[in-house]
Amino acid sequence: MSIFQTVNKTLIPEKYNQMSNEELENKVREAKERLGSKLFIPGHHYQRDEVIQFADATGDSLVLAQLSAKNRDAEYIVFCGVHFMAETADILTTDEQKVILPDMRAGCSMADMADIHQTERAWKELTETFGDTILPLTYINSTAAIKAFVGEHGGATVTSSNAEKMVSWAFEQKERLLFLPDQHLGRNTAFNLGIPLDAMAVWDPIQHKLIFDGPVEKVKVILWKGHCGVHENFTVENVRSVREKYPKMKIIVHPECSREVVALSDMAGSTNYIIKKIEESDPQTSWAIGTEQNLVNRIIKRYPDRQIISLNPYMCSCMTMNRIDLPHLAWCLDSIEQGEIHNIIEVDKGVAEKAKLALDRMLQTK
Ligand code: 13P
Ligand code: SF4
Repeated sequence: MSIFQTVNKTLIPEKYNQMSNEELENKVREAKERLGSKLFIPGHHYQRDEVIQFADATGDSLVLAQLSAKNRDAEYIVFCGVHFMAETADILTTDEQKVILPDMRAGCSMADMADIHQTERAWKELTETFGDTILPLTYINSTAAIKAFVGEHGGATVTSSNAEKMVSWAFEQKERLLFLPDQHLGRNTAFNLGIPLDAMAVWDPIQHKLIFDGPVEKVKVILWKGHCGVHENFTVENVRSVREKYPKMKIIVHPECSREVVALSDMAGSTNYIIKKIEESDPQTSWAIGTEQNLVNRIIKRYPDRQIISLNPYMCSCMTMNRIDLPHLAWCLDSIEQGEIHNIIEVDKGVAEKAKLALDRMLQTK
């Protein structure tokens, strides 16, 4: 396919961009009514308000994966989130159910930081160095191919809300682990479980090199050198500035933030954890949140009796999460009704089978 065809494929008919919000909202509402239980719209917490208002369920990555595994009724699952989430939903649903991503450009830059060929090459080198002592774990923010690789090698997926449980599980299986693709979630989780920082090495996939000072036998955790470009924007400087301006303010961050930022914060956890902590807090308390801006804005609106700010005053939304907007959602539902469905996410069967092993190990670990 030429670049021109690829770009064209991602564009929606111009009429959707010309419609007013009210027209689009009515369109979505009416299509939802007509499609009834044939349609299910899961929405990740980082989605825009204009989209999340139509979600049948909202949640973090774990909740959305669990819901996909349970849902056997909906014929069409219109996933308001990013590509790896839609792939996960496709792997966990039946062949009869169709998973649709309203905009194919809604990827995740972190997931793209671990490519399957790089991973296979890294594995060869790492197993030559460490023998059969490593178990691979992958953050759910990864491609289906990476999940399949992990599933095939006895490992599992993890999300930010079960990472400690899954890392503990991994250490019951093997002496060491390779954590893909987010070095920060891997480092923060292992550190919380008592693994010292000097027992953690970093695998650089670009240089194809293990970065570690000291004897390699000391390595317990190998962190893939990937990160989230959104969460890396929260800095130690941001934490210091909030502490100085608002001494009583609690700082709560997502574990995709760096170790230094997490260490200086009061609490760290998944998007569901952050929402729950603020919900349980007393009115009049004050909070600085270190996560994606659509979610922070929603929390600010929901709790006008608390003082809530973003930890970084210049923070933006996740650009790829933001690709899913009202025009794309309306177009997507229209195309279902017209029987001309676009953007179906269909993971190759062989890959899906192996990836499911990794997902099932996570979903079944108590
Ligand atoms: P959770 O919703 O699992 O906390 O993940 C955050 C995220 O970055 C999803 O892309
Ligand atoms: Fe990926 Fe980060 Fe966006 Fe989540 S917030 S989808 S990890 S780029």
